[in-house]
Amino acid sequence: MSKRHSVAIIGAGIGREHLDAYRQLPERFEVKTLCDLNEARVREVLSESTEVQSATSVDSVLNDPSIELVDVCLPPHLHFDLCKRALQAGKSVICEKPLVSSVSDADQLIALTKQTGQSIFPVFQYRYGLGGLQMRKLIDSGLAGKAFTGTLETHWNRGSAYYEPQWRGTWAGEQGGAVLNHAIHMHDWLSFIFGPVASVYADLATRVNDIEVEDCAAISLRMHSGALVTSSITLGAADDTSRLRFCFAGLTAESGSNPYAPAQGKWTFTAREPNQQEKIDDLLNEIATPAASYMGLFTAIADAIDGNPGQEVTLQDGRQSLEFVSAVYASAREHKPIALPLTSDHPSYKGWAPP
Ligand SMILES: NC(=O)c1ccc[n+]([C@@H]2O[C@H](COP(=O)([O-])OP(=O)(O)OC[C@H]3O[C@@H](n4cnc5c(N)ncnc54)[C@H](O)[C@@H]3O)[C@@H](O)[C@H]2O)c1
Repeated sequence: MSKRHSVAIIGAGIGREHLDAYRQLPERFEVKTLCDLNEARVREVLSESTEVQSATSVDSVLNDPSIELVDVCLPPHLHFDLCKRALQAGKSVICEKPLVSSVSDADQLIALTKQTGQSIFPVFQYRYGLGGLQMRKLIDSGLAGKAFTGTLETHWNRGSAYYEPQWRGTWAGEQGGAVLNHAIHMHDWLSFIFGPVASVYADLATRVNDIEVEDCAAISLRMHSGALVTSSITLGAADDTSRLRFCFAGLTAESGSNPYAPAQGKWTFTAREPNQQEKIDDLLNEIATPAASYMGLFTAIADAIDGNPGQEVTLQDGRQSLEFVSAVYASAREHKPIALPLTSDHPSYKGWAPP
């Protein structure tokens, strides 16, 4: 029987959702500590619970030998330092998106994982759900075939209440806008389904809120496979919807519009040749509903630690998402397509924020 992995969650904002998911996986994880500078917030999250201890200092967590995994749920500009310190303290790390603030920082963390023998698992929980698994199986079975085009919509609604925490909406704190912080999940999805991006052309604008960073984007992508994709992003929609549509030689796939769990909504898979629909439906009928969202991600992480990797989000995936973001900001600034991968001598390798 595999052992339970002991976790400390650092940051009690989205950390609350992480805690809920770990609690639903009691055979895989034990949350020992919830740490936040804001003691009242921790108290509120833990409420009557006695099984999780509270802490206000990250040092106490890093010095606790009983903690195996540090789950970083801090604002983005604090991720790199805590990931580094946790690895050096002999812990493995789960880190919320965006992983760090540059591809160069991601490369430093990759080197540090090799030195310390510890792992970092970036968070992209949108991948996990029945629709997402069905899409993957259709690709792996060959029924989807050659990828032609895709469209991604991240149309969410964010107003002044969202920007109350001072770190949000700024280059120094949030590190970027809707491309970095909201659509990052959809772009991770894209690479997960269509493979790596070859080049990107982006137009960005701040049109919805009075903030430093972008809240609208129109992005055009060419994939390594040759497939063409468009990504439309705004934080000025009437409500929150996320939608993906992929056209392959064998079928067209369309997600539902669940904003924060697009892999879980109702997907449709329509054969281009009607006589192939039965084969598609037969394969879909064989797929059992998997653990979704954070539960799916954490299950995949526990499996990877226990020696069965393959379903987790890898550190390379986290790096790739930052490479994409760097290219988007560079393209918008230079008004030209940017080719990927980004080389270490590219001006955006060390960060995408404006000079
Ligand atoms: N995966 C997702 O869908 C998703 C959703 C929301 C947020 N996030 C990410 O989660 C991260 C946190 O976002 P949030 O919305 O929870 O932010 P938040 O501001 O609501 O919470 C961050 C918490 O960190 C605490 N904190 C700050 N510095 C600290 C320190 N040195 N030690 C201990 N605690 C400290 C703050 O007191 C605060 O309670 C961000 O990277 C964000 O992008 C991801």
